[in-house]
Amino acid sequence: MDVVGVIGAGQMGAGIAQVSAAAGARVLLSDIDLAAAERGKAGIARALERLVGKGKMASAERDALLGRIEPVAELAPMRQADLVIEAATEREPIKRRIFEEVGPLLSPGAILATNTSSIPITRLAQAAPDPTRFVGVHFFNPVPVMGLIELIRGLATSDGTVRAVEAYAERLGKVVVRAEDAPGFIVNRVLMPMLNEAVFVLGEGVATVRDIDAGVRLGLNHPMGPLELADFIGLDTCLEILRVLQIGTGDPKFRPAPLLVKYVEAGWLGRKSGRGFYDYAGAEPVPTR
Ligand code: CAA
Repeated sequence: MDVVGVIGAGQMGAGIAQVSAAAGARVLLSDIDLAAAERGKAGIARALERLVGKGKMASAERDALLGRIEPVAELAPMRQADLVIEAATEREPIKRRIFEEVGPLLSPGAILATNTSSIPITRLAQAAPDPTRFVGVHFFNPVPVMGLIELIRGLATSDGTVRAVEAYAERLGKVVVRAEDAPGFIVNRVLMPMLNEAVFVLGEGVATVRDIDAGVRLGLNHPMGPLELADFIGLDTCLEILRVLQIGTGDPKFRPAPLLVKYVEAGWLGRKSGRGFYDYAGAEPVPTR
C-alpha cells in the first residue's frame, strides 16, 4: 500500500493516518473540510512531539512522517489511493454516503475498508462500488499503542482483499484477528457488556465511580477501569454499539443501562465533552458520583 486514504480525521482516523505514515505510506487525510483534516494532522504532530520529547523519536523522523500526511479538502484525491479506510462517525447513513461518494473515484483494484466497530460489513458493502474489494478493519484506541486489528470480511469480500489488508496490517506491526460479520465482532461483543454492567452497578448505587474503576483495575489488572474506559471511548459510541448489539442479536442482555442513556442525553459523553463519569475540567479527572 503506497498511498493510503483515510476518511475522518478524528481520534481513530488520525491514529490510522499516523501508523500508516509511520510504516512508510503516503497518507491522504480527509474530513468534512480542510480545517478539520488539518486539525487531525495537528493532533498527530502533538503526539509525535511528545515522543520526540521523551527521546523515543528523532525530530527528523517526525518531520518525515508528518511530511507523508497530506490533509485534503475533498475526496477527489482518493483516486490515488491503493487503500481507503473510512473512519467517520459511527452512523450508518454517514458511512453509506461516504462510500457512495468515494466509490466512483477509486482506482480499479483499490480496496475500500471501514473502521466500523459494529455495523455489519455485508450490509455496508451494498453502498460500495465492489463488495469483493470491501472489508472491515477495526483498529483500537489509541491506534499507535494498541497492537490489534480485527479483520472482518463481508459475504462477498475476496481472498485477495483479505490478503492485501493482512499484509498492510503486518507492515503496521499489528496482530490481525479474524472475526465473522456478527454484531460487535469479537472485542466489542465481549467488552460492551462489561462496560454496560459497570454503569448498572453505578446506577443501582452498589458502588462509587472510584471504587468500580479501582475494583476492575486492581482486581482484574486492567489498565483502565470500565467507567474510565467508557469515558475514553465516548459514552455516545458505547451506547451506539450496545444498540447495534441489542438489535443485531435480539438478545436483551445487551440492553443499555438507563444511566448510560441519560448521560448521553445530557451531552455528558466522556472525555471528549469534558464530562462523563469523570469531570475533566481540572488537571486530574474527578469522579462525578
Ligand atoms: N502515538 C504514539 N505513542 C503513543 C501515543 C500516540 N498517539 N499515545 C500514547 N503513546 C504511548 C506513550 O508514549 C507511552 O509510551 P511509553 O509507555 O513507552 O512511555 C504509552 O503509549 C502509554 O501512554 P501514556 O503514558 O500517556 O498513558 P498510560 O500509560 O496511562 O496508558 C493507555 C494509556 C495506553 C490508553 C492505557 O490506559 C490503556 O491501554 N487503556 C486501555 C485502552 C483500551 O482498552 N483501548 C481499547 C478501547 S475499545 C476500542 O478502541 C474499540 C471500539 O470500537 C470502541
